[in-house]
Amino acid sequence: MNPIFPSILNTDFFDLQEKLQDFQKLGIDFIHLDIMDGHFVETISFGPSFLAAIKKRFPFSFDVHLMADNPRHLVPQFAAAGARWISFHVETERDVPDLCKLIQENNSLAGLVINPETPIAALFPYLYQVDFILLMSVHPGRGGQEFIENTLDRCAILKREMQRQGFLRPIQVDGGVKAANISRLARAGADIFIVGTALYNAPDIISSGRELLALINGDTK
Ligand code: DX5
Ligand code: ZN
Repeated sequence: MNPIFPSILNTDFFDLQEKLQDFQKLGIDFIHLDIMDGHFVETISFGPSFLAAIKKRFPFSFDVHLMADNPRHLVPQFAAAGARWISFHVETERDVPDLCKLIQENNSLAGLVINPETPIAALFPYLYQVDFILLMSVHPGRGGQEFIENTLDRCAILKREMQRQGFLRPIQVDGGVKAANISRLARAGADIFIVGTALYNAPDIISSGRELLALINGDTK
């Protein structure tokens, strides 16, 4: 699986088809979709019909990041539209294991997301139940923000705890990921890199994507 999941939140939607074609040439498997409800974060983004429209034309799988106060009622809609991975924020849900189960019953992998200011230990009780973790490396709500450096330490701490508990789940990192930090993230234990602006605002998406992949695979920066 390609470890880069492009986020298309900030892209110019009139160019979307072209960008998606470039992602295909880059060997992208998953597109990351940021779902915003106007409550948990200020603005709104898109719904399941957007996912379904892309799915009709492209062979991608979908990773849906729910930034919503009530993620529970969105799960069946996005699963039905074709989401394979679905994540929700630990800050929004009182019964994390139960919502994970609902996602899993909808034939998707369940992910737990954590904001930069939430103590990383908030994830530790749920590692047995989740399929993956998403570490926010910016404040949720919009693309194009500066990467928060202490995500590297948080990632390393989380990886150690996963090893200690024996539940090594894939770790996604989301926000401000680019050439200047991606290899350090890989060394800190990140497995999947959500990349927005650094990819779709690049003059050449394919060569920038290849550079990011090379950095993930060990070229230092
Ligand atoms: C932020 C979103 C991210 C964002 C990533 O709320 O979760 O997925 O769009 O975009 P960049 O890479 O531009 O920070
Ligand atoms: Zn996201």
